[in-house]
Parts: sequence; C-alpha cells; structure tokens
Amino acid sequence: MRIAAIGDLHCKSDSAGMIRQLLKGVDREADILLLAGDITNLGLVEEMEVLLDELSFFSLPKVAVIGNHDHESNQIELLIKMMTESGILVLDGTSCLIDKVGIVGTKGFCGGFGKLHVQPFGEQALKNFIKTSINEASRIDKALAELNCPFRVAAMHYAPIKETLLGEEIELYPFLGSSLFADVFDRHKVDVVVHAHAHHGSPYALTPGGIPVHNVSRFVQSRFGHRDWCLLTVGEEDLKEQKARIEAASKDKTSP
Ligand SMILES: [Fe+2]
Ligand SMILES: [Fe+2]
Repeated sequence: MRIAAIGDLHCKSDSAGMIRQLLKGVDREADILLLAGDITNLGLVEEMEVLLDELSFFSLPKVAVIGNHDHESNQIELLIKMMTESGILVLDGTSCLIDKVGIVGTKGFCGGFGKLHVQPFGEQALKNFIKTSINEASRIDKALAELNCPFRVAAMHYAPIKETLLGEEIELYPFLGSSLFADVFDRHKVDVVVHAHAHHGSPYALTPGGIPVHNVSRFVQSRFGHRDWCLLTVGEEDLKEQKARIEAASKDKTSP
C-alpha cells in the first residue's frame, strides 16, 4: 500500500488553489492520503471550509490526525465533525484498518525525550501538563494492543523522537514532542511512524527500537525532497529497505 503523508498544511482562508497545488499527484501515486495535523492555521471554520474544498479535488481515502494549530480557536469538535462528514477519517487515540494496513493516530503532546522527559512531580500545574502526554500515550498503547494486522503505521502531529527535530532550536525540543510515544511504538513493534509539527526539523530517523520515523511536515519535505509530501510504501520488503536506508544515512554525518 502506498501512503502519501503530509503535515502542517496550515490552511488559511486565502489558501484556495495553494493546497491542491501542494498535493498535486497524490491521487496518481498513492492509495491513501495521511494528514499529520496543523491542517488549519488557526483552527477556524472558514479555514476548514477552504481545506475541504481543496481536498475534494482528490478522490483517494483520507486519514487525519489533528495538530496544535487546529485547537487554537477552541472549535476542535466542530472541525472534526466537518472533516468526518466530508469523508475524512480522523484518528484521535484510535485506529483504522485499510486492506492489510492498520493505522493508529493521535495528536501527541509535549514532554521531551529520554532521561530528561518531564516527570509528574511537584506543582499540580506541571502534573496536569505532563499527564496530557501520559494519558494520550496510554490511549495509543491500548489502540495498538487491539489492532491485529500484518502492517501497522502510527501517525502523530508531535514528534516521538528527538532525532527528527535536528534543525530546531534545542530549547524548543520539550515542546515539540515526547518519547513516551516512541516507547509505545517500540513495545508494539509498529512498522513505521510519521509526524509533523517540527517545521525546521529533519526528514527521517529511527526510534531506539529501530522503527523508521518520518517527519512529513511539508516544510521539511520540500526542503529535503522534490515535493511537499512523503510517499511511503508499506510492505515487508519496502519497510526493510526503508530501515536500511535510514540506518546508512544516520552513519553518514553529512546526511540530514
Ligand atoms: Fe505546524
Ligand atoms: Fe504544530
């Protein structure tokens, strides 16, 4: 199965024509379009109307996770309803199965990475902040435990590893993602992970457990590739090749 993945569309009220140009060719080259959050710029209904109109030019099935920008105007329920009614499958700690490929999706959240991950200790405000990530990681853990299929793709908006953030200011890292999600993906041995949110980050890396992670932010894809979206082919040989390529690139210091 071929998945075209793109995040950070940041559709604005005046983006008509721009999004369809960015996505040119997806319906020819892919079987599914996966949107990795920050679909709208300010979470406005009029932005979503423009986005849905732009997406109507592409007839392939569409799956989405939401991003932090989609929350900005406190209308996330309405935006999800609009997407769902137009045929987009929105994943929020949930999964879907398309052919032999299961997709789990969640927005993700902040917290940082590895030993320096923020802990639920001290002030209630800090506990509430980090419990958002803990609870969301636990929901995706449950969704994966219930998803029994040959290939499993995980989609997020925030990053699950720090390696695909390379290029961002290091002080921002704890606000760009959380390794709690990589821990879950490694434990369930998912096949591939996509995320966005880190506009200035790097295109790919591996989790500590060796799972390929792609930063499909359109800004990263256009900087490192020849177009704004990332094409992933999910099948046994394709995944092996993907992992070998990322391993080789991470040994080569000159690669992104
Ligand atoms: Fe973004
Ligand atoms: Fe974002």
